Amino acid sequence: MTIEFTDKIRRIPVYPTAGGYALGDDVAMLASNEAPFGPMPSVVEAATAALSHVNRYPDPTNMGLRRALAGRFDFPPERIAIGSGSCDILLSAAEALLEPGAEVVYGWPSFSVYPQMAAATGARAIEVPLDDEDRYDLEEMLAQVTVATRLVLLCNPNNPTGTAQPLAAIEEFVARVPRHVCVIVDEAYCEFSTLEDPDSSLDLARRHPNVVLLRTFSKVYGLAGLRCGYALCGDERFRVAVEQVRQPFFCNSLAQVAAEEALRHQDEVGRRVELVVAERIGLVESLRELGLRVAESQANFIWHALPEDADETAVLDGLRERGVLVRSGRALGREGWLRVTIGRPDENARYLAALRELL
Ligand SMILES: Cc1ncc(COP(=O)(O)O)c(C=O)c1O
Repeated sequence: MTIEFTDKIRRIPVYPTAGGYALGDDVAMLASNEAPFGPMPSVVEAATAALSHVNRYPDPTNMGLRRALAGRFDFPPERIAIGSGSCDILLSAAEALLEPGAEVVYGWPSFSVYPQMAAATGARAIEVPLDDEDRYDLEEMLAQVTVATRLVLLCNPNNPTGTAQPLAAIEEFVARVPRHVCVIVDEAYCEFSTLEDPDSSLDLARRHPNVVLLRTFSKVYGLAGLRCGYALCGDERFRVAVEQVRQPFFCNSLAQVAAEEALRHQDEVGRRVELVVAERIGLVESLRELGLRVAESQANFIWHALPEDADETAVLDGLRERGVLVRSGRALGREGWLRVTIGRPDENARYLAALRELL
């Protein structure tokens, strides 16, 4: 006799986590799109001070952080949702919006949590292939919206390809989606985009009650290990709904304090973005010189093909032996491609040297 689980446990795909956490220090961790920089010093101080108070539960209203975000974006605090990472908000949104008979539309390949949202709720996943330039195919996504659609997910820039649609195209898309369909624009990497000012999308959530902009402190702010994300919602009811389906204390007190402090350092954020973008340009150029197909990245990672005769597993094993961890394209939806996070200059150079050797 074994324990009997629900049907959804059979349906939910296993999340393709990166390995290598036990490999020690001398490894270039280029597999999880994290920041190569540590948290800012004043953030460490604020979180350290907060540690002395963890006998208390965190503020369940997240008010300090919500007010700080409201000030930064000039956005109503009651329409800002907080989560234990933005994944937490995605999964709560699935619970609040999806059920058997409902449909969720998203591009593919895209973020690995999206299929989980459908599987966990029994909704039907409509996966729309990316266009020829590996961008979200917005026309085709619109064509897939039916009376059963409850949720559309737009990953912009897209993980794993790094490609982005310009805001004008997203605006046109949103204007054509029926009002009762929730559109989550997942902007986990928006700070790294040079297409336009990352904050220019805010108007979407100001003008459309069905739009939610999803962002995170895990990437440019370097707080992935603390787990904190947020959503700027077109309608307060989205925040209330995602709070209804979770435990009251969904965001820990260190994360709340650290995120609030990190927000005060936009100059440092700008400096980090510049470093990442400069490294991105160099890495793309070097990969193209190797004759490899590289998607147009607006994120802190690069999606590139391997030569046709290369064996993805052998390349990944070879990279690991050389102390470089990147993400397998097969695990992310396309065999023969790799996703490489932009690391420190020495880590990126190590990746290039190892890849040159292996190819
Ligand atoms: C597109 C996208 N959205 C959301 C997330 C979730 O990030 P977090 O839960 O750390 O905020 C990630 C993480 O890699 C991502 O790639």
